[in-house]
Amino acid sequence: MLLPFFGELVEREELKKLAGEEAVKHIEDGMIVGLGTGSTVEYTICKLGELVRNGLKIECIPTSIHTKRRAKEENIPLTTLEEHPEIDVTIDGADEVDSQLNLVKGGGGSLTREKIIAFNSKKLIIIVDDSKIVKSLGIDFPLPVEVVKFGWQSTKKALEQFGWQPARQKLEEIGCTVELRKVMGDEPFITDNGNYILDCEFERIENPEELEKDINNIPGVVENGLFVNLVNEVIVGGKQGILTLDK
Ligand code: A5P
Repeated sequence: MLLPFFGELVEREELKKLAGEEAVKHIEDGMIVGLGTGSTVEYTICKLGELVRNGLKIECIPTSIHTKRRAKEENIPLTTLEEHPEIDVTIDGADEVDSQLNLVKGGGGSLTREKIIAFNSKKLIIIVDDSKIVKSLGIDFPLPVEVVKFGWQSTKKALEQFGWQPARQKLEEIGCTVELRKVMGDEPFITDNGNYILDCEFERIENPEELEKDINNIPGVVENGLFVNLVNEVIVGGKQGILTLDK
């Protein structure tokens, strides 16, 4: 069974590469570019590095410490949101994409910086392989929520009880189970902002727009991984080639 599984992984990497490299066609000289985080964006970073070495003039704003390091390794010029509050194009990955082009993000824990960058971009392009396209958000992937360390257990409890608040008819039946994200050796995962991540497993997310706001209203929550009405275009790498989704 090992060989077919390995074959599937190799194939998935090919599809990510296809999408990641396709996205750079949207980048032009003089642009301020938001650089997302994750294994799919890695292919974009490599391609941009190549284009920069061949004379492309851009400045990039990374969404994580990891991406910043990778961009530096590729000699891609960097800038900040303070210097350039308006970003021309951001290219980022996603964990789930629904038919409305709403997303779950944060598998790598960078959701807060990713959402700030996305919100301040004129255009947000999402790159995924076709396994990320879902009928309904929250089914395949838990929703990551970044929370401050102080009182995190109470924030966790509030999230667990969230679905069952009697006043909230629409959310009443949703409910979720919540896990503190850990790294090897049982240590909590720490975000680039020094916070924890709570992974919330919902049966389904029926109203992402409402849920995004409601979760962010819980004291202790910094941000959650629902990206609603932010995406302009999704580039999907599939076995048949590239598919572009827009609104
Ligand atoms: C990082 O925090 C995430 O939002 C990533 O963009 C997302 O998890 C997609 O990552 P991959 O491209 O590695 O699947």
